[in-house]
Amino acid sequence: MSGSPTLLRIFGAGLRAQVAVDQIAWHFKEKYVVEGYYDDKLPVGSAGPNGFPVLGTIDQGVAETPGSGAQVYLAMGTYRSWRSCELFAEFLAKGLTFARLIAPTAHVSPSAVIGENALIFGGVFVGSEAVVGHLFTAHGGTVVEHHCTVGHNVLLGPGVTLAGLTQIEDHCFLGSGTSSKPRTRVASGTMTGAGSVVIADLPPGVIAAGVPAVRQRDVTENDEVPHPSVVKRLQGIFGEQ
Ligand SMILES: CC(C)(COP(=O)(O)OP(=O)(O)OC[C@H]1O[C@@H](n2cnc3c(N)ncnc32)[C@H](O)[C@@H]1OP(=O)(O)O)[C@@H](O)C(=O)NCCC(=O)NCCS
Repeated sequence: MSGSPTLLRIFGAGLRAQVAVDQIAWHFKEKYVVEGYYDDKLPVGSAGPNGFPVLGTIDQGVAETPGSGAQVYLAMGTYRSWRSCELFAEFLAKGLTFARLIAPTAHVSPSAVIGENALIFGGVFVGSEAVVGHLFTAHGGTVVEHHCTVGHNVLLGPGVTLAGLTQIEDHCFLGSGTSSKPRTRVASGTMTGAGSVVIADLPPGVIAAGVPAVRQRDVTENDEVPHPSVVKRLQGIFGEQ
Protein backbone atom coordinates (compact mmCIF):
# COMPACT_ATOMS: atom_id res chain seq x y z
CA MET A 1 0.00 0.00 0.00
CA SER A 2 1.47 3.31 -0.99
CA GLY A 3 0.48 6.98 -0.80
CA SER A 4 -2.12 8.68 1.35
CA PRO A 5 -5.65 7.30 1.64
CA THR A 6 -8.32 8.36 -0.85
CA LEU A 7 -11.38 10.25 0.36
CA LEU A 8 -14.58 8.37 -0.42
CA ARG A 9 -18.16 9.64 -0.61
CA ILE A 10 -20.93 7.08 -0.56
CA PHE A 11 -24.24 7.67 -2.33
CA GLY A 12 -27.01 5.96 -0.41
CA ALA A 13 -27.02 5.18 3.30
CA GLY A 14 -29.05 1.99 3.46
CA LEU A 15 -28.18 -1.65 3.75
CA ARG A 16 -25.94 -1.77 0.69
CA ALA A 17 -23.99 1.22 1.94
CA GLN A 18 -23.63 -0.43 5.34
CA VAL A 19 -22.17 -3.66 3.93
CA ALA A 20 -19.85 -1.67 1.66
CA VAL A 21 -18.57 0.40 4.59
CA ASP A 22 -18.07 -2.77 6.58
CA GLN A 23 -16.02 -4.17 3.70
CA ILE A 24 -13.89 -1.00 3.81
CA ALA A 25 -13.36 -1.31 7.57
CA TRP A 26 -12.41 -4.93 7.07
CA HIS A 27 -10.08 -4.74 4.08
CA PHE A 28 -9.46 -1.18 2.90
CA LYS A 29 -8.79 0.95 5.99
CA GLU A 30 -5.48 2.12 4.56
CA LYS A 31 -6.85 2.77 1.10
CA TYR A 32 -10.03 4.76 1.78
CA VAL A 33 -11.20 7.34 4.29
CA VAL A 34 -15.00 7.50 4.27
CA GLU A 35 -16.08 11.16 4.39
CA GLY A 36 -19.75 10.26 4.68
CA TYR A 37 -22.99 9.65 2.80
CA TYR A 38 -25.36 11.45 0.50
CA ASP A 39 -28.88 10.25 1.06
CA ASP A 40 -32.43 11.55 0.63
CA LYS A 41 -33.90 9.84 3.67
CA LEU A 42 -31.55 10.55 6.58
CA PRO A 43 -31.23 14.13 7.88
CA VAL A 44 -28.08 16.02 6.97
CA GLY A 45 -25.62 15.89 9.87
CA SER A 46 -27.07 12.70 11.34
CA ALA A 47 -24.99 9.54 11.68
CA GLY A 48 -25.31 7.03 8.85
CA PRO A 49 -24.17 3.39 8.88
CA ASN A 50 -21.11 2.73 11.06
CA GLY A 51 -21.37 6.31 12.40
CA PHE A 52 -20.16 8.19 9.32
CA PRO A 53 -22.06 11.45 8.81
CA VAL A 54 -24.76 12.21 6.28
CA LEU A 55 -23.22 15.02 4.22
CA GLY A 56 -26.30 16.02 2.26
CA THR A 57 -28.96 14.92 -0.18
CA ILE A 58 -28.17 13.03 -3.37
CA ASP A 59 -28.60 16.23 -5.39
CA GLN A 60 -26.17 18.06 -3.10
CA GLY A 61 -23.67 15.25 -3.58
CA VAL A 62 -24.05 15.45 -7.35
CA ALA A 63 -23.39 19.20 -7.18
CA GLU A 64 -20.43 19.21 -4.80
CA THR A 65 -18.51 15.98 -5.53
CA PRO A 66 -17.06 16.61 -9.01
CA GLY A 67 -13.84 18.55 -8.52
CA SER A 68 -13.65 17.67 -4.79
CA GLY A 69 -10.92 15.08 -5.36
CA ALA A 70 -13.04 12.42 -3.64
CA GLN A 71 -13.86 9.06 -5.16
CA VAL A 72 -17.42 7.76 -5.05
CA TYR A 73 -19.17 4.52 -4.30
CA LEU A 74 -22.76 4.18 -5.47
CA ALA A 75 -24.76 2.13 -3.00
CA MET A 76 -28.36 2.94 -3.82
CA GLY A 77 -29.89 -0.46 -4.11
CA THR A 78 -31.70 -2.71 -4.52
CA TYR A 79 -35.01 -0.88 -4.94
CA ARG A 80 -33.24 2.31 -6.07
CA SER A 81 -30.46 0.72 -8.10
CA TRP A 82 -31.81 2.50 -11.21
CA ARG A 83 -30.71 5.76 -9.56
CA SER A 84 -27.20 4.35 -9.10
CA CYS A 85 -27.20 3.58 -12.84
CA GLU A 86 -28.14 7.16 -13.71
CA LEU A 87 -25.56 8.61 -11.33
CA PHE A 88 -22.95 6.22 -12.66
CA ALA A 89 -23.40 7.53 -16.21
CA GLU A 90 -23.37 11.13 -15.01
CA PHE A 91 -20.25 10.73 -12.85
CA LEU A 92 -18.43 8.75 -15.53
CA ALA A 93 -19.03 11.60 -17.98
CA LYS A 94 -17.62 14.02 -15.38
CA GLY A 95 -14.47 11.91 -14.98
CA LEU A 96 -15.06 10.75 -11.40
CA THR A 97 -13.45 7.57 -10.11
CA PHE A 98 -15.44 4.78 -8.48
CA ALA A 99 -14.26 2.67 -5.57
CA ARG A 100 -13.53 -0.99 -6.28
CA LEU A 101 -14.29 -2.96 -3.15
CA ILE A 102 -13.01 -6.40 -4.09
CA ALA A 103 -12.06 -8.35 -0.97
CA PRO A 104 -8.48 -9.63 -1.04
CA THR A 105 -9.93 -13.00 -0.04
CA ALA A 106 -11.88 -13.17 -3.31
CA HIS A 107 -10.20 -15.08 -6.15
CA VAL A 108 -10.47 -13.20 -9.41
CA SER A 109 -8.72 -14.64 -12.45
CA PRO A 110 -6.22 -12.24 -14.01
CA SER A 111 -8.02 -12.82 -17.32
CA ALA A 112 -11.43 -11.79 -15.90
CA VAL A 113 -12.73 -8.26 -16.42
CA ILE A 114 -14.71 -6.52 -13.67
CA GLY A 115 -16.45 -3.16 -14.16
CA GLU A 116 -16.38 -0.06 -11.96
CA ASN A 117 -18.09 0.31 -8.58
CA ALA A 118 -17.76 -3.39 -7.76
CA LEU A 119 -18.49 -4.84 -4.33
CA ILE A 120 -17.18 -8.40 -4.10
CA PHE A 121 -17.09 -10.17 -0.78
CA GLY A 122 -14.68 -12.73 0.58
CA GLY A 123 -14.71 -16.22 -0.84
CA VAL A 124 -16.07 -15.19 -4.23
CA PHE A 125 -14.48 -16.88 -7.25
CA VAL A 126 -14.44 -15.28 -10.70
CA GLY A 127 -12.98 -17.61 -13.31
CA SER A 128 -11.02 -17.40 -16.49
CA GLU A 129 -12.15 -14.76 -19.02
CA ALA A 130 -15.38 -13.99 -17.19
CA VAL A 131 -16.65 -10.50 -18.03
CA VAL A 132 -18.63 -8.60 -15.39
CA GLY A 133 -20.23 -5.18 -15.84
CA HIS A 134 -20.39 -2.03 -13.70
CA LEU A 135 -22.27 -1.77 -10.37
CA PHE A 136 -21.74 -5.43 -9.56
CA THR A 137 -22.31 -6.96 -6.13
CA ALA A 138 -21.37 -10.55 -5.31
CA HIS A 139 -22.04 -11.86 -1.83
CA GLY A 140 -19.92 -14.39 0.03
CA GLY A 141 -19.12 -17.72 -1.55
CA THR A 142 -20.45 -16.91 -5.01
CA VAL A 143 -18.86 -18.53 -8.05
CA VAL A 144 -18.81 -16.93 -11.49
CA GLU A 145 -17.12 -19.60 -13.58
CA HIS A 146 -15.02 -19.29 -16.70
CA HIS A 147 -16.36 -17.35 -19.69
CA CYS A 148 -19.51 -16.20 -17.92
CA THR A 149 -20.79 -12.80 -19.00
CA VAL A 150 -22.56 -10.72 -16.38
CA GLY A 151 -24.16 -7.40 -17.32
CA HIS A 152 -24.36 -4.10 -15.46
CA ASN A 153 -26.17 -3.51 -12.17
CA VAL A 154 -26.31 -7.18 -11.25
CA LEU A 155 -26.50 -8.55 -7.72
CA LEU A 156 -25.58 -12.15 -6.98
CA GLY A 157 -26.71 -13.28 -3.55
CA PRO A 158 -24.61 -15.50 -1.29
CA GLY A 159 -23.59 -18.87 -2.65
CA VAL A 160 -24.74 -18.31 -6.23
CA THR A 161 -23.01 -20.70 -8.63
CA LEU A 162 -22.84 -19.71 -12.27
CA ALA A 163 -21.46 -22.56 -14.35
CA GLY A 164 -19.14 -21.78 -17.26
CA LEU A 165 -20.54 -19.67 -20.12
CA THR A 166 -23.67 -18.59 -18.25
CA GLN A 167 -24.99 -15.21 -19.40
CA ILE A 168 -26.66 -12.83 -16.96
CA GLU A 169 -27.96 -9.66 -18.56
CA ASP A 170 -28.22 -6.16 -17.01
CA HIS A 171 -30.28 -5.38 -13.87
CA CYS A 172 -30.68 -8.99 -12.70
CA PHE A 173 -30.78 -10.13 -9.06
CA LEU A 174 -30.07 -13.79 -8.38
CA GLY A 175 -31.31 -14.93 -4.98
CA SER A 176 -29.03 -16.79 -2.61
CA GLY A 177 -27.93 -20.22 -3.71
CA THR A 178 -29.15 -19.88 -7.30
CA SER A 179 -27.21 -22.15 -9.62
CA SER A 180 -27.10 -22.33 -13.37
CA LYS A 181 -26.44 -24.93 -16.00
CA PRO A 182 -23.61 -24.00 -18.41
CA ARG A 183 -24.59 -21.74 -21.35
CA THR A 184 -27.96 -20.74 -19.91
CA ARG A 185 -29.06 -17.10 -20.09
CA VAL A 186 -31.02 -14.94 -17.67
CA ALA A 187 -32.45 -12.00 -19.58
CA SER A 188 -32.42 -8.40 -18.33
CA GLY A 189 -34.26 -7.30 -15.20
CA THR A 190 -35.10 -10.82 -14.04
CA MET A 191 -34.88 -12.00 -10.43
CA THR A 192 -34.48 -15.58 -9.23
CA GLY A 193 -35.68 -16.85 -5.88
CA ALA A 194 -33.42 -18.35 -3.27
CA GLY A 195 -32.33 -21.86 -4.20
CA SER A 196 -33.36 -21.65 -7.86
CA VAL A 197 -31.73 -23.93 -10.39
CA VAL A 198 -31.58 -22.40 -13.85
CA ILE A 199 -31.51 -25.17 -16.46
CA ALA A 200 -33.16 -23.24 -19.32
CA ASP A 201 -33.05 -19.59 -20.43
CA LEU A 202 -35.21 -17.19 -18.40
CA PRO A 203 -37.10 -14.35 -20.12
CA PRO A 204 -36.67 -10.65 -19.24
CA GLY A 205 -38.59 -8.92 -16.46
CA VAL A 206 -39.81 -11.93 -14.50
CA ILE A 207 -39.57 -13.40 -11.03
CA ALA A 208 -38.51 -17.02 -11.45
CA ALA A 209 -38.00 -19.63 -8.77
CA GLY A 210 -37.80 -23.32 -8.07
CA VAL A 211 -36.01 -26.42 -9.26
CA PRO A 212 -35.98 -26.07 -12.17
CA ALA A 213 -36.47 -22.29 -12.11
CA VAL A 214 -39.62 -21.22 -13.92
CA ARG A 215 -41.44 -17.92 -14.27
CA GLN A 216 -43.69 -17.24 -11.28
CA ARG A 217 -44.93 -13.81 -12.36
CA ASP A 218 -43.86 -10.55 -14.01
CA VAL A 219 -41.71 -8.00 -12.14
CA THR A 220 -43.74 -5.25 -10.46
CA GLU A 221 -42.78 -1.79 -9.22
CA ASN A 222 -42.24 -3.27 -5.73
CA ASP A 223 -39.61 -5.84 -6.65
CA GLU A 224 -35.87 -5.68 -6.04
CA VAL A 225 -35.11 -5.42 -9.75
CA PRO A 226 -36.10 -2.40 -11.84
CA HIS A 227 -39.51 -2.59 -13.54
CA PRO A 228 -39.29 -3.32 -17.31
CA SER A 229 -40.32 0.29 -18.06
CA VAL A 230 -37.29 1.48 -16.04
CA VAL A 231 -35.01 -1.10 -17.70
CA LYS A 232 -36.16 0.31 -21.05
CA ARG A 233 -35.44 3.86 -19.90
CA LEU A 234 -31.94 2.83 -18.80
CA GLN A 235 -31.11 1.24 -22.15
CA GLY A 236 -27.88 2.61 -23.56
CA ILE A 237 -26.94 4.31 -20.27
CA PHE A 238 -23.73 2.30 -20.01
CA GLY A 239 -22.74 2.90 -23.63
CA GLU A 240 -21.45 0.02 -25.73
CA GLN A 241 -22.26 -3.40 -24.27
C1 LIG B 1 -38.73 -15.47 -5.32
C2 LIG B 1 -39.03 -14.26 -4.41
C3 LIG B 1 -38.43 -13.00 -5.03
C4 LIG B 1 -40.56 -14.18 -4.43
O1 LIG B 1 -40.98 -13.17 -3.59
P1 LIG B 1 -42.57 -12.91 -3.45
O2 LIG B 1 -43.18 -12.65 -4.78
O3 LIG B 1 -42.74 -11.90 -2.36
O4 LIG B 1 -43.06 -14.36 -3.04
P2 LIG B 1 -44.00 -14.83 -1.88
O5 LIG B 1 -43.25 -14.94 -0.60
O6 LIG B 1 -45.28 -14.03 -1.91
O7 LIG B 1 -44.31 -16.31 -2.42
C5 LIG B 1 -45.07 -16.53 -3.61
C6 LIG B 1 -45.02 -18.01 -3.92
O8 LIG B 1 -43.72 -18.35 -4.39
C7 LIG B 1 -43.12 -19.35 -3.55
N1 LIG B 1 -41.72 -19.03 -3.40
C8 LIG B 1 -41.19 -17.90 -2.86
N2 LIG B 1 -39.85 -17.94 -2.90
C9 LIG B 1 -39.52 -19.11 -3.46
C10 LIG B 1 -38.30 -19.72 -3.75
N3 LIG B 1 -37.14 -19.12 -3.49
N4 LIG B 1 -38.31 -20.93 -4.34
C11 LIG B 1 -39.48 -21.57 -4.63
N5 LIG B 1 -40.70 -21.02 -4.37
C12 LIG B 1 -40.71 -19.82 -3.78
C13 LIG B 1 -43.89 -19.27 -2.23
O9 LIG B 1 -43.85 -20.51 -1.54
C14 LIG B 1 -45.26 -18.90 -2.71
O10 LIG B 1 -45.90 -20.07 -3.20
P3 LIG B 1 -47.51 -20.28 -3.09
O11 LIG B 1 -48.12 -19.15 -3.89
O12 LIG B 1 -47.72 -21.63 -3.68
O13 LIG B 1 -47.82 -20.17 -1.64
C15 LIG B 1 -38.46 -14.42 -2.97
O14 LIG B 1 -39.23 -15.37 -2.25
C16 LIG B 1 -37.01 -14.85 -2.92
O15 LIG B 1 -36.66 -16.05 -2.93
N6 LIG B 1 -36.10 -13.86 -2.88
C17 LIG B 1 -34.66 -14.07 -2.88
C18 LIG B 1 -34.02 -13.21 -1.80
C19 LIG B 1 -32.54 -13.45 -1.68
O16 LIG B 1 -32.06 -14.56 -1.85
N7 LIG B 1 -31.83 -12.40 -1.40
C20 LIG B 1 -30.38 -12.42 -1.25
C21 LIG B 1 -29.99 -11.16 -0.51
S1 LIG B 1 -28.28 -11.05 -0.17
